Amino acid sequence: MNEYVVEMKGIVKNFGQVQAVKHGEFTLKKGEIHSLIGENGAGKSTMMKLLYGMYPIDEGEIIVKGEPMGTITPKLAIEHGVGMVHQEFMLVNELTVLENIILGFEPKKGLTIDFDKARKEVKKYIEQYHMDVQLDKKVSQISVGEAQRVEIIKTLMRGADIIILDEPTAVLTPQEAERLFEILNNLKQDGKSLVFISHKLNEVMAISDRISVMRQGQYMGTVNKEETSPLDLTKRMIGREVFLNIDKAYSEAGDTILEVQDVWIPSQKETSKIRGMSLHVKTGEIVGVAGIDGNGQSELVEAITGLRKVEKGKILLCGKDITNQSPRKVRESGLSHIPEDRNTRGLNRAMTIEENLIAVRLDQPPFTRGIMMNKSGQDTYAKEMVEQFDIRPADYNLPTSSLSGGNAQKVVVAREVSLGNKLLVASQPTRGVDIGAIELIRNTLEKAKKAGAGVLLVSAELEEIISLSDRIVVIHEGKITGEMRADEANENNLGLLMMGGTDTGKDGEAAV
Ligand SMILES: Nc1ncnc2c1ncn2[C@@H]1O[C@H](COP(=O)(O)OP(=O)(O)O)[C@@H](O)[C@H]1O
Ligand SMILES: [Mg+2]
Repeated sequence: MNEYVVEMKGIVKNFGQVQAVKHGEFTLKKGEIHSLIGENGAGKSTMMKLLYGMYPIDEGEIIVKGEPMGTITPKLAIEHGVGMVHQEFMLVNELTVLENIILGFEPKKGLTIDFDKARKEVKKYIEQYHMDVQLDKKVSQISVGEAQRVEIIKTLMRGADIIILDEPTAVLTPQEAERLFEILNNLKQDGKSLVFISHKLNEVMAISDRISVMRQGQYMGTVNKEETSPLDLTKRMIGREVFLNIDKAYSEAGDTILEVQDVWIPSQKETSKIRGMSLHVKTGEIVGVAGIDGNGQSELVEAITGLRKVEKGKILLCGKDITNQSPRKVRESGLSHIPEDRNTRGLNRAMTIEENLIAVRLDQPPFTRGIMMNKSGQDTYAKEMVEQFDIRPADYNLPTSSLSGGNAQKVVVAREVSLGNKLLVASQPTRGVDIGAIELIRNTLEKAKKAGAGVLLVSAELEEIISLSDRIVVIHEGKITGEMRADEANENNLGLLMMGGTDTGKDGEAAV
């Protein structure tokens, strides 16, 4: 009997001009957890969607349990025991958990659905793998971690013994991730074969038997966990060493530059409403806002930057009341902003790199001379920025729409930081960018702080918050649940506060 339940050989997949997978190789053994890692856009999701039959392959071969698949479809994949938990969950909010689990293949009793039989079957999995889920709750009422368990049960109900999880921990707190790992280990003990996609090396080192690396659509090799290290994996992922650890200087913070005073901010979403929040940022410090996405971070940033109205409370910038002022007015009062969504708010994609770099201060020297535009002043500045921030390709006449995510973000960061403003609000500044750009952006924020700016850093990456911030506030459902110095913070105490718990100061003793 073949040692592998899955073999993918010489895989090629193009989407029009985009070569998503140039050369993919992957094997899966029965009863192993095999991690697939790589930077954003490396082709990980595509490789696994090919195994799940979501797209036809252009070249290569997929063999499942010894059987060549030919043209693989989701139906064929499911029949061969392949299940996939996607990055975006595919559950129906208005239905109950049980209804979702049996959706599409209801066991029938006459003409009606046999809920009792389905419930029994589901309960069997819940007990066997210790996955607690509340079967009669609506999906809209359960947590993300629980929704993920529901997705896993769905694959099991369809007979999966090869289960693909695409970046399952991206939406979880560290504690929820721990629980997921226990379940994955239970599944493995039971002989299931698992594919775990991630770009978080500590998780991969914790959970995997084997690890495969992809870089820009290419297969970069497979290693046993025991034979590798985070450093080795990083080199394979990006082709060089990177230094994400900031050499942080705890400096004396200076004057208060931003004051948020008992602010209430409306939102469509219940959990994102800000209900009475106060915080401040001083010059020369980075204040990190930690929290799971959707707990009011975006609303807070929008209110500070003038993009969203405040119901109650006050926001002061450099001592000046900027509550409910226009974004332009707030900028003029000394705010720089790296927005969450660089494509809609950060950049005009149709404009060139140069035009974007100078967009917010076209009316200032050296870009104007009297009432005339000073083209050579603009060019000199753009050239300098492109060099200093390593924007590639280094041609400032290109439209920003032609840049990769990381380089587009460098344009935003270059523009905002070089304004030399007193306050810099950075919202998810490294989301979805490559690791080289992450390194540059983090160093830039640290430099801005050393130069005397106050930085409010909102990020869903705990590791980023801890390594950059001087002080950390944690937000949950629109309220601050805790505040601490960064050197007192770790994934445990922050994670508990992110779930709405209170920190007692000792690991593991916090009450939720
Ligand atoms: N359906 C699609 N259509 C066009 N391009 C795609 C599609 N899916 C993925 N891509 C592109 O293929 C490349 C690899 O993407 P993906 O497999 O999602 O990477 P990863 O999961 O490693 O981040 C990226 O450049 C992405 O933009
Ligand atoms: Mg992906």
